[in-house]
Amino acid sequence: MLRRRIGADARIVVLTGAGISAESGLPTFRGKDGLWEGQRFEDVATPEAFARDPESVHRFYNHRRRQLRDAAVQPNPAHLALAELERRWPGTVLVVTQNVDDLHERAGQRRLIHMHGQLDRVRCTSCAWTGRWDVDLGTAHACPHCARTGSLRPDIVWFGETPVGMEDIEDALEACDLFIAIGTSGSVYPAAGFVETVRSASPAHTVEINLEASAVGSRFEERRYGPASEEVPRFIEELLTVHA
Ligand code: APR
Repeated sequence: MLRRRIGADARIVVLTGAGISAESGLPTFRGKDGLWEGQRFEDVATPEAFARDPESVHRFYNHRRRQLRDAAVQPNPAHLALAELERRWPGTVLVVTQNVDDLHERAGQRRLIHMHGQLDRVRCTSCAWTGRWDVDLGTAHACPHCARTGSLRPDIVWFGETPVGMEDIEDALEACDLFIAIGTSGSVYPAAGFVETVRSASPAHTVEINLEASAVGSRFEERRYGPASEEVPRFIEELLTVHA
C-alpha cells in the first residue's frame, strides 16, 4: 500500500533511468565492474572524445541507435504503466528521462523531457540545426541545412554539457506533490540531486523504485525494490485505484 495519501490533483514528476529499459533488452551503464557499457566514458561520451576521435564516438552511438531498431526492443510494462498514468491521472504527470532511447514515446507518453538528449536525433555543430536521424551517422555526412560535411553529432548530452530543459525540470520539481525515481543509480548529477530539490522545496512524497537501493536511496521516503516491469505497474495501479 502507498505509504502516504496522494490527492487526486497531485502534480507528479517521474525521473527514469536506464533500469526502466533494461527489461526491454537495452543494457544499463554501470555494471559490477564499474565500466560504462564496456568502455571508459571519457573515450566516447565527452565533447573532447568527439573532437579527438569522431569515428569511434559515431561507432558507439550507431551501435546503440541500431539496437533501438531491433524488433525485440519494445516498451515493457513499466513504460506502458507510466503512459497509462498520464492518460488517467486527474492531475499533471511529467516524465523526465535520462534515457536516450524512444521507449517512453513508443509507449504513448506525451509530456516527456529527454534531459540527456535522444539517440534518434542529430545536431549540427556548425549551424545548430537539429533533426531526426534513424540511420548510421559518420564524418562523411553533410548537414541537411547548411550542407557542411562532418559537422553532425549525436543529439546527446555528454559529460560536461548542460542537460536539456533544466529550467522546466526545476520548476516542476519544486511544485510537485509526488516524485518517483525509477531505475536510476543516483550517481550522475544533476538528476541524482532531484530528490533533494523536491525535499527542500515542498512536503512532496518521494518514492524510489529500483532493483536495489541507489546511491541516494536513503533520501526517499518510500522504497520499492524489484524489477521495474513488476514494481512500476503495481505502484501505478495502487495510485489509480485510489483516484481514477
Ligand atoms: N528494474 C529496476 N531497476 C533496474 C533494473 C530493472 N529491471 N535493472 C537495473 N536497474 C537499476 C540498477 O540497479 C541501477 O541502479 O537501474 C540503475 C541503472 O543505473 P545506471 O546504469 O547508472 O543508469 P542511469 O542511472 O540511467 O545513468 C545515468 O549516466 O552514463 C550516464 O548519461 C548516462 O543517462 C545516463 C546517466
